[in-house]
Amino acid sequence: LLQAPAGDGPTERLAVLARRAAGCEACPFSADATQTVWGEGAAHAALMLVGEQPGDQEDLAGRPFVGPAGQLLRRAIAQLGWPADQIYLTNAVKHFKYEWRGKRRIHKTAAQREALACADWLEAEIDAVRPRALVALGRTALTSLMGRPLSIEEHAGQWLRRRVDGLPVYVMPHPAAVLRAGDADSGTREAEWTRLLAGAGQALR
Ligand code: URA
Repeated sequence: LLQAPAGDGPTERLAVLARRAAGCEACPFSADATQTVWGEGAAHAALMLVGEQPGDQEDLAGRPFVGPAGQLLRRAIAQLGWPADQIYLTNAVKHFKYEWRGKRRIHKTAAQREALACADWLEAEIDAVRPRALVALGRTALTSLMGRPLSIEEHAGQWLRRRVDGLPVYVMPHPAAVLRAGDADSGTREAEWTRLLAGAGQALR
């Protein structure tokens, strides 16, 4: 099911995978989410950025990184001058996991075994795009990409290498962490985060 037809180009393969993933019920929270949120961007991208999971706004829009954390990420990419035709954005987990707090849906981090249920989609996506490098945004993405739990604090700004395909992985804190601190210094923290992300630009040269 997860194998895209060989022989087709990345655009066709991604379209086939996205159609199949739309009906996926492998994780327990797919039933409560509005829809599967597949990746978006250049099918031939050199750099694939991997987040955790769609949030409230992504779940409703059906697109990754359109809420507050996503806007921060997109601002950083624009500021770094990374060409859109070299960038692909996706998530380790493709359904929104949440709990109701009053009338608000509050994001809940997917457990490792739940992220594992989605790992085949991410691997199929990587295999279709064949980027030069990956960026792990936060712990869930890093664990999914590396196949084992690793500390963001310890590895932020470093390049690691995946055993399965040898692809380099640049480690970043999740953009939501910049927003969560939420104090008067948020501009400075966003600038620092963007400077750290700049290191991944090596893959675009
Ligand atoms: N956070 C993520 O990790 N991914 C999104 O798509 C949005 C917010």
